[in-house]
Amino acid sequence: MSRLVVVSNRVAVPNQQAANTGGLAVALREALQANGGVWFGWSGKIAQRTSSQPTLTEVAPVTYATVDLGRKDHSEYYNGFANRTLWPLFHYRLDLAEFPRQNYEGYLRVNSLFAEQLRPLLGDDDDIWIHDYHMIPLASELRRLGVRQRIGFFLHTPFPALEVFLALPSHERIARSLCAYDVVGFQTMNDLRAFLDYIVNESGGEVLEDGLVKAYGRTLKAQVFPIGVEAENLARTAAHALKVPAVRRFRESQRDRAFLMGVDRLDYSKGIPERFEAFQRFLERYPAWHRQVVMVQIAPGSRAEVPEYKQIREELEARAGHLNGAFADYDWTPLRYLNKGVPRETLVGFFRLSAAALVTPLRDGMNLVAKEYVCAQSPHEPGVLILSRFAGAARELDAALLVNPFDPDGVADAIARALNMSMEERVERWEAMIKPLRENSLDAWRDSFLKALRQAPYAAPSDTPG
Ligand code: ADP
Ligand code: F6P
Repeated sequence: MSRLVVVSNRVAVPNQQAANTGGLAVALREALQANGGVWFGWSGKIAQRTSSQPTLTEVAPVTYATVDLGRKDHSEYYNGFANRTLWPLFHYRLDLAEFPRQNYEGYLRVNSLFAEQLRPLLGDDDDIWIHDYHMIPLASELRRLGVRQRIGFFLHTPFPALEVFLALPSHERIARSLCAYDVVGFQTMNDLRAFLDYIVNESGGEVLEDGLVKAYGRTLKAQVFPIGVEAENLARTAAHALKVPAVRRFRESQRDRAFLMGVDRLDYSKGIPERFEAFQRFLERYPAWHRQVVMVQIAPGSRAEVPEYKQIREELEARAGHLNGAFADYDWTPLRYLNKGVPRETLVGFFRLSAAALVTPLRDGMNLVAKEYVCAQSPHEPGVLILSRFAGAARELDAALLVNPFDPDGVADAIARALNMSMEERVERWEAMIKPLRENSLDAWRDSFLKALRQAPYAAPSDTPG
């Protein structure tokens, strides 16, 4: 059996402080557990200078190979091009995207450095699987160093529509770098379509009938692989939720009130201010629910050095204060807002206790929280998922209450509908949602990607675009 080598910016080394919240870290940790392998990427540490070789940490069955980043590399590559250029652009936030050339150069430099440090760790039969927007140029860098085996790439975020992508000054180089892979995976048809649109209309390439792409002198496979969750495992954890003291404490504090749950990294793409606004509209328009309902928003800080993330944090604190100021009473705080990570069992327990979840990103590649929420429900008494139509998860979870997160009145109505929904309808919707989640587990996602990678047409490294 060939060894799996996973590469991503964020690496969740067990027992280390690096953030474990984020769909990618959660999914890859679980995807590597089954057969083991190597996980290469940033250590999460900022050092005086970037490490000259990776630190290896063995925690069977996985070898973690991590690189500390120097201040300048971290600032230009991670805070800069990854999180102030590609992230906003890929989430349709052209208004927030910045394009300083220096950050782009830092991004290319760090990718080249990662390739040099990864190269000696690679064996000839390894399956090499690279993840997310931080690492797009990595395959062409590895090719330059003589790596000949197939390399796959999976994009966890959306891929933007052609007109948005064209705003990126380096769009041609980024698209060309994507074509250095043998398989490029997307979360949804929408993302794949946007990529193919670029190939056909901008690169002069073509899309063949069997889904193969010919562009920049190479042939590759571009395909949709919607990421899954460990459905059975989550259901088991959720069934024992009340054994977790924090979950019990929470239930006691809640008395008979229904509660609504929001769980997101603190990111502007998640639509949290808009959600608070919708909850406020709900309280204004449905006063019969006063004192009967509490919204809990858990939002651990994320990318704290990026100015837009500082701003959204301040904005949310102000909005939460304002909402509670307007509606709270001596014995009722309608919005509980927490800025911290929560252990997985506790989180799943909260999901199980809630009447409904508000998963209302303005744009999201997939959104694992939506899927985890469904898996955590009791089959006999499930909560209701209120889900943004702009989350990738809405494709599979179309039995959720789908909402437009830009429309606070519409979301307020959906909250009222969820709270009033008959048990029969709740069960019916839940059954329709749990089915695809059980079928498309996290293992199935990993296996189908790796199968496609092994079957991809082999491209001679000399074909590799620069
Ligand atoms: P993203 O990748 O953009 O952060 P996802 O919803 O796809 O969004 O993934 C988020 C992951 O992080 C989920 O697995 C979720 O359970 C986890 N997570 C989010 N918030 C928290 C939190 N406060 N505590 C613990 N885990 C969290
Ligand atoms: O795809 C979602 C994602 O951007 C991952 O790449 C990333 O690990 C996660 O969100 C959390 O963000 P960060 O690694 O910047 O803390």
